[in-house]
Parts: sequence; C-alpha cells; structure tokens
Amino acid sequence: MLVILQGFFVFVAFLVILLLIWEVRFNFIRRKWPPGPRGSPFIGNLKELELGSLLEKFKELRKEYGNVFTITVLHRPLIIVNGYEALRHLLCKEGDSTSDRPPYLTEHNPDLLGIVSSSGALWKEHRSFGLKTFKELGLGKQNIYDQVELEASILISDILKSDDEQLKITLEEFFNAGTESVTSTLRWTFVYLVHYPEVQRNMQQEIDDVIGRSRMPMMTDKDSLPYCEAVILEVLRIRPAAPLGGPRSLSRDVHYKGYTLPKDAILFANVYSVSEDESSFPNPERFDPNRFLDDAGKICRQSDILPFSTGPRVCMGEALARIELFIFLVSIVQRFTFLPEDDMNMPSVKGNLGITLSPKPYKVRAVPR
Ligand code: HEM
Repeated sequence: MLVILQGFFVFVAFLVILLLIWEVRFNFIRRKWPPGPRGSPFIGNLKELELGSLLEKFKELRKEYGNVFTITVLHRPLIIVNGYEALRHLLCKEGDSTSDRPPYLTEHNPDLLGIVSSSGALWKEHRSFGLKTFKELGLGKQNIYDQVELEASILISDILKSDDEQLKITLEEFFNAGTESVTSTLRWTFVYLVHYPEVQRNMQQEIDDVIGRSRMPMMTDKDSLPYCEAVILEVLRIRPAAPLGGPRSLSRDVHYKGYTLPKDAILFANVYSVSEDESSFPNPERFDPNRFLDDAGKICRQSDILPFSTGPRVCMGEALARIELFIFLVSIVQRFTFLPEDDMNMPSVKGNLGITLSPKPYKVRAVPR
C-alpha cells in the first residue's frame, strides 16, 4: 500500500514539475509578444473573456497595454489590433502575412471551395473568382438599381441550371455575408433615428428638397443628399456590423514596434476601436452625422472609419452594401417617420455581439408621412 502511495506522490510531483517547466517556458517565449494581461496559469485569460462584453473588455485592455495587445487562451496567443494606424499597418502593409484564416475553420470543412474561410493560394483563387462573378453580375455598379430585377432572374435560372459547385458556394457566401450585415446596419439606423428625431427631420427635409415624395431615389441622387449619406456613415461608425471582422491567422512571424507577433497566432482586427477613438471622434457614443460633413455641407472623413476592414481581406461587398444602405434608407425615410413604441419604450443602443453586432429586438412605429 505504502509503495503504491509513494509511487502516486512521485507521479504527481513529476507532473507538477512538468507543468511548471511548461509554464516557465511559455512565459519565456511570450516575452517577445505584444504585452497583455497575465491571466491564470495554463488557461490564460479564458475566464475573463465573455462574448457579451468583449468590446468593452478590449477597450480597457487597449488603455492599459496599447494598440496591439496579446491575450492567451490555453497558451495560444490571440493578438488584438486596435486603432487606425496599427490596423492599416498590420492588415495592409503586412497583409501578406495577416490575411489567412485559422486552420480550424477549414480543417473540418469538406468543401474548401469558399472565400470566407479559406486561406493562402486557394483563398486568392476563390476571391478572384468571386470578384469576376461580382463583375459579371454588375454588383456594386452605380446602375445596379436598374439591373437588380433583370439580373436576379437571370442569376436564379443560371444557378438552377449550373452544376458549377464553386459558383453556387460563392453566391451562397455573398448572400450570407451580405444579408445579416446590411440588415443589422439598417436596424441600427432605425434605433438611432428614434433616439435622435432631429436627425430624422434633417434627412426628410433634404429628401423633400432634392427628390420630393413621389419619385423613388436613385444612386445618381447620392451626391445631392450628403446629409443622408452622413447618417449612413455615422451608423457604420457607431455600430459596425462586424466589429472584430473574422478571425485571422498569421502565416509567418510579423515584427511590429519591437514585438514579435508569432506565426500561427490568431489575430482579431478590432475595427470598432477606430470608431470609439476619442481623439478622432470626440464623445464617440453620441450619434452625430455632422462628423462626416465639412463646413460646406459636403461629405468628409469617410475613410477615417474601417467598418469594412482593410487590406487584401477587406469586405468584398462594400460597394454593394453602400448602395443597398442608401437606396433602402432613403426610400423608407422618404415615406415613413420612425417613432418609439411609446416614450417609456426606447430601443436599446446596446447590442448583442455574435457573428455580427446587432441590436436587441425592439419595436418602433413607422408612421406614413
Ligand atoms: C454593412 C454591410 C457590411 C459590413 C459592415 C461588412 C463588413 C465586413 C468585414 C469587416 C469583413 C472582413 C472580415 C475580415 O476581416 O476577415 C467582411 C468580409 C466579407 N464580406 Fe462584408 N460587410 C458588409 C456587407 C457585405 C455584402 C453586401 C457582401 C456581399 C454581397 C459582403 C461580402 C463579404 C465577403 C465575401 C467577405 C469575406 C472576404 C474574405 O474573406 O476574403 N459583405 N465584411
């Protein structure tokens, strides 16, 4: 019995020593990584991360550790990139090394044909196929409005006839990536229009002056409706639909400001951090479309936000999304005024963070004008 107990204690002691060596070695390796909270041994920061409050947590950590910080989960580094300069540098200049997806997204996925979760040469090939498909369908062009109906029917019959697997997957991905993000941006717009009725009045005034109430808006009206455009930019700033983009994985070591971002680390591009940067957007939680209008009432600073991310893996649907948002929003606000369900029931400006950042379910009244 004693021998068994002794054996057990030796085994446990051996295990503890092994774990300690592992931990010490890990702490030695991580010295070169961007700084970050220490967390508990082995599990790292796992306990401190909650999806619901992730954006607030990242804001705190950015204050403490700077624009590029590391959190660790089970000894795996997750690099969080914040702020315009660091994002532009790491996603564009270092774009060759920061544009892969983590292998776990594709490893168990039998059809590697898509764009959103593939990496490397395969991703490049699929993305250029996607761009070609976009062009062929005329998506993202200013005249899309006239084309939509015609193209949609041609497209549907093409897909039905086609046994081209890659085309089917590409279109499905466009549909998935496009629907949720545009819908959630529109839903946020109504939340803010209800909270800021003067903004809604300014939009309606501008629409009445330029288009009137009977004719449908067209993309050619966009330059004459800068206030409406500024409202869209302000929604994209204050509640970007994909605040952390999709997870990236580093295909090689990247050096940044004396630190090493190690190969195979997961990287999150916190595009939301640009929106909440008080140095470029004072009082960032205040909804104010005038931020995007210059003294002459023209659109300005639209490239100061990164809601569509940046670099080689930038959103493929940006041009289409901007067109959709403009046409939907202007035609709806032209005909309806949005009011709270009642004054005690204002929709919340706090969102739910899942794959996208969307508003909590809410009810508002759409009153015909
Ligand atoms: C307001 C609307 C939208 C927002 C805010 C948005 C935002 C984004 C962001 C931030 C990414 C980058 C993910 C990353 O960094 O890894 C992305 C990727 C992507 N988006 Fe969008 N998006 C919108 C609408 C659309 C639409 C309408 C489409 C297509 C019809 C689309 C197609 C895609 C695709 C295919 C990707 C993946 C690109 C790749 O992995 O190479 N998006 N989007």
